[in-house]
Amino acid sequence: MPKVTFIVDGAPHTVEFEHGGLPYSHHGKPESFLDVAKNLDVPLEHACGGSCACTTCHVIIKEGAQHLSEMEDDEADRLDTAWGLTTASRLGCQAVISGDVVCELPMYTRNYVQEGGGIQLGKSDKRKTEEVVR
Ligand code: FES
Repeated sequence: MPKVTFIVDGAPHTVEFEHGGLPYSHHGKPESFLDVAKNLDVPLEHACGGSCACTTCHVIIKEGAQHLSEMEDDEADRLDTAWGLTTASRLGCQAVISGDVVCELPMYTRNYVQEGGGIQLGKSDKRKTEEVVR
């Protein structure tokens, strides 16, 4: 049984699922992070319902990347638009899990969604503003 750990606000939530044992709920690919999260009550955002059309399901893989499906072109193209993209980033609705894996939910995605999609100025923007003022 694959063990999936979601790190949410710094706290790990570990769940297990049996291959073929999740009642597929049409949220992302079957046995993807989103499918597992939806079935086991982990709060993973999914504004587009798991159709690879947003980046709110962005997860950063900490361990077990070898236990995930290969990234397809549409996932890579969509990920390019994600805030805080890393080389370990995946879309939770597209990455299908075949073994133990640990992922972290990026804080800025959660803030972005919780605040209704508002954009906050980052440090670099603030510094630019200060330079202009001087
Ligand atoms: S839920 Fe929108 S891309 Fe995954």
